[in-house]
Amino acid sequence: MSFPATRLRRFRKNPTLRLLVRETHLSADDLVLPFFVCPGEGIAKAVGSMPGVFQQSVDRVVETAREAYAEGIRAIILFGLPEHKDEVGSAAWSPDGIVQRALRALGSEVPGMIKIVDVCFCEYTSHGHCGVLTGLGENTTVDNDATVANLARQSVSLAEAGADIIAPSDMMDGRVGAIRTALDSAGFTDIPILSYAAKFASGFYGPFREAAESTPAFGDRRSYQMDAANGREALREAALDVEEGADMLMVKPALPYLDILAKMRERFDLPLAAYHVSGEYAMLKAAGERGWIDYNRVMMESLIAIRRAGADLIITYAAREAARLLAEGWSE
Ligand code: PBG
Repeated sequence: MSFPATRLRRFRKNPTLRLLVRETHLSADDLVLPFFVCPGEGIAKAVGSMPGVFQQSVDRVVETAREAYAEGIRAIILFGLPEHKDEVGSAAWSPDGIVQRALRALGSEVPGMIKIVDVCFCEYTSHGHCGVLTGLGENTTVDNDATVANLARQSVSLAEAGADIIAPSDMMDGRVGAIRTALDSAGFTDIPILSYAAKFASGFYGPFREAAESTPAFGDRRSYQMDAANGREALREAALDVEEGADMLMVKPALPYLDILAKMRERFDLPLAAYHVSGEYAMLKAAGERGWIDYNRVMMESLIAIRRAGADLIITYAAREAARLLAEGWSE
């Protein structure tokens, strides 16, 4: 006996039917907008390789966050460009540090906004590495345990200034446990940790390093960030972070690592974030500016693909653009 052909096109006939069977949705609630906070006042300095992204002084950060909030954005992530850098990155845990100041201003001026903070030292060290250096010459590397102690200190300082979520991005071993312990003993038992669990050593971070002025002065980050070739290791990273008390996990970059995201989704029940990074954004912008792709369309398609692979939330420089398109009824 033969059956009539199954016709999957029955539900593709019109937009209403397509929406009825849509499996994945994108919403402004799931988007996180990054900020680069710099010293001064009234400053909004364009980042050349990231059209639409600026280094902004605290007053401008507040203004932009307020506009973004009005457009439906409910979460931001803050990166700091300190006045002074030193060998260990001590400006990162100063009560008067640049991100600490931004947190206080945002807390009083844009109270509903969820403030995630990136915890790491590459923006704060004179050498641009993500922690304290040890060893000489060719053997110079980032000292894991000394860096972990400083990350805990930075986290407590940021929590004291009003951070809502602590997001360590350094890739030192054991940092999640140390940060959890430090937060708890300082009374911040309610502050969650979003671990950059699977953060790969990636060329896609290039434009970010211009924005954050955090390019390493020598060498690269391959001795602490993950090898792009490794999938199983990403799951081990995540499992350890869960054991140490992570409340949310992140995969970074996003599009080139959707397989990792999908595997993490299957394996863990924690909320899962993806970082649609600077290079991913820059490529879309560059091709869009040349008219080689339809920027809005490809950007929205990228974000829905990241959600489909398993991300609950997406950190993206396109958050405001996406929120505006969604408000206009976009359904890519
Ligand atoms: C480290 C950090 C980086 C990014 C986020 N946190 C840079 C790096 O590891 O070199 C990159 C984000 C992006 O490319 O958008 N503090």
